Amino acid sequence: MTTGNADYRDSGLDFPADFLFGSATASYQIEGAATEDGRGPSIWDTFSHTPGKVWNGDTGDVADDHYHRFDEDLDLMKSLGLEAYRFSIAWPRIQPTGRGEANEAGLAFYERLVDGLISRGIRPIATLYHWDLPQALEDEGGWTNRATAYAFADYARIVGERLGDRIEVWTTLNEPWCSAYLGYGSGAHAPGIMDGASALAAVHHLNLAHGLAITALQEVVTNDPGFSITLNLHVIRPVGESGAEAARRIDGLANRVFLGPLLHGEYPADVIEDTKDVTDWAFVHEGDTAIIKQPISVLGVNYYSTVTVQMWDGVSERVNADGHKDMGGSPWPGSRDVEFLAQDGPYTEMGWNIDPSGLEELLVSLHDEFPDLPLMVTENGAAFDDVLTQEADGPAVHDIDRTDYLRRHFTAAHRAMQRGVDLRGYQVWSLLDNFEWGYGYSKRFGIVRVDFDTLERLPKDSAKWYSELIRTRSLPE
Ligand code: NOJ
Repeated sequence: MTTGNADYRDSGLDFPADFLFGSATASYQIEGAATEDGRGPSIWDTFSHTPGKVWNGDTGDVADDHYHRFDEDLDLMKSLGLEAYRFSIAWPRIQPTGRGEANEAGLAFYERLVDGLISRGIRPIATLYHWDLPQALEDEGGWTNRATAYAFADYARIVGERLGDRIEVWTTLNEPWCSAYLGYGSGAHAPGIMDGASALAAVHHLNLAHGLAITALQEVVTNDPGFSITLNLHVIRPVGESGAEAARRIDGLANRVFLGPLLHGEYPADVIEDTKDVTDWAFVHEGDTAIIKQPISVLGVNYYSTVTVQMWDGVSERVNADGHKDMGGSPWPGSRDVEFLAQDGPYTEMGWNIDPSGLEELLVSLHDEFPDLPLMVTENGAAFDDVLTQEADGPAVHDIDRTDYLRRHFTAAHRAMQRGVDLRGYQVWSLLDNFEWGYGYSKRFGIVRVDFDTLERLPKDSAKWYSELIRTRSLPE
C-alpha cells in the first residue's frame, strides 16, 4: 500500500501525489475466450446461454476479446496515464471446476497481465471474485453451500502463491450484495435463483469466504499488499413518515449485514429479527464471525446512485422503482413491503439517478463510523448512449454526459477528502465498453469505446478528460 493521506486537507481541487487514479474491469465482462486454455464454465456462461436471461441473448463468449488483446489494452492504459488497474481473476480459469489442481494456463495469463501492468508502471488491484463462480460449485449449491467458502479460500491461496509478490491491493469479493440478492433472491443475475432464504445463506457464505480468503492470502503473500473487499453500499433517502423504518430495513439488508460481521464482528440483531420468517440463520456457526472479521487495510466503495424508500401502506398501488422488480423474486428478503420510489433526474442510460452528493455522503459516513479505515472508490462511472462521429482526424465519441458525470463525482470525492476522509484512490468504471450482465452489450460504461463487431478500441472524450485529470492531478474549479 502507498502511504496514507489522512492529513490531506484543503488544497483547492488538487489530489495528493499518492492518490491512485485508475480504471476497473471484470473478467467475464471483458475477457471472452470462454472455453480456451482450460477455462471451465461459470454460472454466467450457463445463465447467459439460457434464453431470456440476458438482453438480446448476449453472452460473454467473446466480450472485448481482452484475453487475446490484453497487450494492446495495457498499451492503451499506459497511453491514458492510468496509475492503477482494477481487474478480476476468473476462478474457472484457475480451477475449472472450482476445486483441485490449478490450471497453469490460467495462472500464466494473469501473470502476463500483472507483469505487463508493472512493466508499464501501473499498480495491479486484483479482485478474486467478480461473479464468475465455477458452474461445478453451483451444482453443489453455490453460495448457499458453506463448502463454497472453503473452496474459495483454496483458490485464493493458489492465486496468492503465484502472484503474491506483486499485487498492490487484493480484493476478495466484488459487491457481494449482487452475488447474494440478485443471484439467489431476485434471480436477475446468475445463477437465477429466487429464494430469500438462499439469498441470506449466500450473504453469510460470501462473508465467510472473504474472511477465509484474507487469512489464506496473508499466509502466502510476500510483499506488503493491501487487503480489501468492495461493497456497493446503498445511499438511502427516506421519504415520509414510514421512511425511517424503510431506511433501517434496507440499510440492514444492504449495508450492515456486510459491514457488521466484516468490521464489527457481528450480524445486526435487527436484520436477524426482520428476516426471521425467511430463515433461522442456522447457517451462521459458532466462530464464524471471528473468521469473517479479518483486518483489512482499505475498503472498496462502488458508487453509482441513490435509493429513495418508504413502507408500503398495504392499500395504495404498489410502487417499486428499484430496477430489480421484474424477475419474479425479490432482492430484499423479509422486506418486500419496502417501496422504492422514483427519484429525481437526471438519469444515466441505466435509469439510475445522478446524485454526486450521495458519494460524498457515503464516504464521509464510512469515515465517521470507521475513522481508521482508508477508503478507495473502486467503481464509479456511467452508461450513456454514445454517438460515434466522423471528424476530419478520424472517428470520435464526444461523451459530454459521461465526462460531466465523472467530473461531478470526482469533485464530490474531493470534497469528502477535504472533510477528512482518507481516500486512497479512484477506479473509473469502466476502462472498456463491455458485457453489462443482464443488459448484455446494450449499455456502454467504457471511457474507451469498443466496436463489438471489429473489437476495435477508441478512447472517448471522457478518456481524454480523465487522462488530463491524472496528468495535472487537479480538477478545474
Ligand atoms: C457494478 C459491478 O461491479 C460491475 O460489474 C457493473 O458492470 C457495474 N456496477 C455497472 O452496473
